[in-house]
Amino acid sequence: TPAGDLATQILHALDKNSPLLSSAAFPTIPSTEVKGALDRLASRDMVKYETIDREEAILEPEGEQIAANGSHEARVFEALRTAVEGLTIQELETAIGDKNVVKIGQGRAFREKWISKTPDGKFKAAKESIKDTTKEQMQTIQSTKSYPDAKMLADLKKRKLVRTQKIISFNIQKGEKFALKIPEVATDLTADMIASGSWKSATFKGYNFKALGADQHPGALHPLNKVRSELRQIFFEMGFQEMPTDKFVESGFWNFDALFVPQQHPARDMQDTFYVSDPKEADMPRGEDSSDTADYKTYWDNVKDVHQDGKYGSIGYRYPWSGEESKKLVLRTHTTAISASMLYKLAQQKGPDGRPPPARYFSIDRVFRNETVDATHLAEFHQVEGVIADYDLTLGGLMEFMDIFFGKMGITDLKYKCAYNPYTEPSMEIFSYHKGLGKLVEIGNSGMFRAEMLESMGLPKDMRVFGWGLSLERPTMIKYGISNIRELLGHKVDLNFMRNSPAVRLDKE
Ligand code: PHE
Repeated sequence: TPAGDLATQILHALDKNSPLLSSAAFPTIPSTEVKGALDRLASRDMVKYETIDREEAILEPEGEQIAANGSHEARVFEALRTAVEGLTIQELETAIGDKNVVKIGQGRAFREKWISKTPDGKFKAAKESIKDTTKEQMQTIQSTKSYPDAKMLADLKKRKLVRTQKIISFNIQKGEKFALKIPEVATDLTADMIASGSWKSATFKGYNFKALGADQHPGALHPLNKVRSELRQIFFEMGFQEMPTDKFVESGFWNFDALFVPQQHPARDMQDTFYVSDPKEADMPRGEDSSDTADYKTYWDNVKDVHQDGKYGSIGYRYPWSGEESKKLVLRTHTTAISASMLYKLAQQKGPDGRPPPARYFSIDRVFRNETVDATHLAEFHQVEGVIADYDLTLGGLMEFMDIFFGKMGITDLKYKCAYNPYTEPSMEIFSYHKGLGKLVEIGNSGMFRAEMLESMGLPKDMRVFGWGLSLERPTMIKYGISNIRELLGHKVDLNFMRNSPAVRLDKE
């Protein structure tokens, strides 16, 4: 039934009978529908209503059977009343035609002392007549849908004869503007209404001051941004300086060669790296402005030498190093390209002792890899990278630093595994036990940058540089319980997820 029809029906019913109980007038219509129609009428002051919640008692199938045929015990009694000699159990079952009724009924009839046993073990009636209270109760409940007292109801429920059901009904009364037809309501006062004077008799729709406003959608921070700002805070707390990572395109020189990645390395394959086709080629490495007076040419030559012929005590890779290869433009595959140029700049600095001062750098930004996209891989993601340069750093000291750093992210019990990076020696993958997954998961990659890389830059031999990297996506996915990376980044992201995702606090120690 459309609501309009029901509303009109209500008005007509109310015209004959006010107040009106909806459950009596419209017993088959769901209460939500009735309420919808009533609200519509009430908003026009045509009706007033109050909601009445009550419990209704309903007979179970067995209760229905008792209301019709009598209780089991009464049926047993009735069958025996006329059999003067008494009946055997088999005879009783034949007479009643229902073994179950006999089984339950004879027990109850004995307890009521309605029947007894003859010396030869037959059943016989022990009274002239009985009163079948259960049947009466069932009939009362059937006709009134209510029940005389709570104790009796509980008993009948336990016997599975009756169940109760919550009923919502409405006590409806005529309102101030009661009429049999719902008047058209005007929502706006128009020029036509003023001109014709029809506004005088028009009914205007009242303002609904309780209506909720339309949802506002202000900008929302992406979960990656939320986790990023927490991580930046950790780096700043630990005295790190943020590296300028505002360029996605790098030359092969900074992305690979400066990091002692040989030109034949599989990572430099087109299958792994995106090459830029226009322009194809970078300038020679140089500073961004005239304030950078470093000798990039010498550095370039050092890098060539260390790859091709070996230098600084290294035998090198011994292959013909190509300047062309080094100038190819790529979408950076890691932010370590930026770390390399920052370390080169550090090599130019002079501290109070005339040597490059210790430094701590970090960055969190986007990198690109030519990967097949699946649930855990995207062609672009974000890298969190840290670099510590200091004199006489030891690996043990740096492992302790990692404990502190990851501890601030709520990641504890680190384990290290030997790994290989062309630019670090030793290299260590960092693992942590993931309680949810019940296993060790890799959370980062790290290592001591190689002398081939650092000494080419002109950094002193005793300055050690430690670096590590992790993806921003992994801790974010763990934090927000996301298992498919495409729900986090890219065109399949649900904007409501962005809007509704809560602020993040990394559980700091
Ligand atoms: N560049 C490495 C990576 O992409 C991370 C790393 C940075 C490792 C610095 C060692 C040192 O996984």
